[in-house]
Amino acid sequence: MHESLRLKVKEKLAPDEIWTMRPNIEEVLKSEINSLPQASDISKYERRYPTTNAALRTFLNAFFARHYFQIQDTVLQPDVFEKFIKVIRKGTLRIADIGSGPVVATLAFLDLITALNQCVQLPMVRVSIILNDTANVSLRIGQKMVRSFSKRSLFDIILTNIISVDTPFPKSLTQLRRVAAMTGSYDICCMSYVLNPLKQEMTHKEIQNNIQELLRYCSSDASCFILQDRFKKSLLRQTGRLQGVTSQKAALCQKVYDEYNSNTEYTYTFFRTIVAPKERYYQGVETRFCLQ
Ligand SMILES: C[S@@+](CC[C@H](N)C(=O)[O-])C[C@H]1O[C@@H](n2cnc3c(N)ncnc32)[C@H](O)[C@@H]1O
Repeated sequence: MHESLRLKVKEKLAPDEIWTMRPNIEEVLKSEINSLPQASDISKYERRYPTTNAALRTFLNAFFARHYFQIQDTVLQPDVFEKFIKVIRKGTLRIADIGSGPVVATLAFLDLITALNQCVQLPMVRVSIILNDTANVSLRIGQKMVRSFSKRSLFDIILTNIISVDTPFPKSLTQLRRVAAMTGSYDICCMSYVLNPLKQEMTHKEIQNNIQELLRYCSSDASCFILQDRFKKSLLRQTGRLQGVTSQKAALCQKVYDEYNSNTEYTYTFFRTIVAPKERYYQGVETRFCLQ
């Protein structure tokens, strides 16, 4: 078990229990915020689901750090962390980031690898990423942020693939399956703050079936994270229940990285569900890929 390593990594990311951005990611975030135009008339919806450069700027200000820390804290849950270490020790990590926005979850994973490397010697990790979002602006800027971050982390990470898919989930499952067949099964899938827009178009049952389909493209040690804030508690709980897992409530105290409110701390509450593929799914996908 890697409990002392887990605590060491946590202390790097959240010193004294306060989630704080490390210099590399803070530089990448600030530089991107400064390069995007400002506008005062962005609707509440556009702030959450940006489709323009100016709206993306407000998203990066308001939500990036919050979601980022919540994802890192999810990887640092003891069971998830054990699986994560196992995958990283093999030297490859394949990520599927669904509703990626400006690649928040993927950047959180990459930064976690760099923090791990500061605590223990690991092989250099070859990372393959598929980003799925309907907003091209997020895919474009997010890819730029990943490249910029990975240049700063040359000794920890090699980016082997970064593929963007703008087909809406679940139609994108076809592409997600093809990419998994090409690059290998996913080790991590993330659906961070995308459940709400999906629920506008699907029933609970359809969401469940689509998540199960995605899990077929995952490796046996994979974890799929589903996150949503406290206002969507019942949606997340219901999604977890249909997957046969319980959801957790969590609260994280973090530094605020809003350009208007720096040097403050705030505690945000959110809900998460962590789903693992079932063994038979893993075997199923291997057979199916061989036949194609
Ligand atoms: C609130 S943002 C979350 C972004 C990021 N995952 C995070 O945690 O910060 C939700 C994202 O989901 C995307 N989205 C909405 N419906 C989608 C769909 N059907 N398929 C893929 N992405 C979708 C939006 O464009 C938006 O970028």
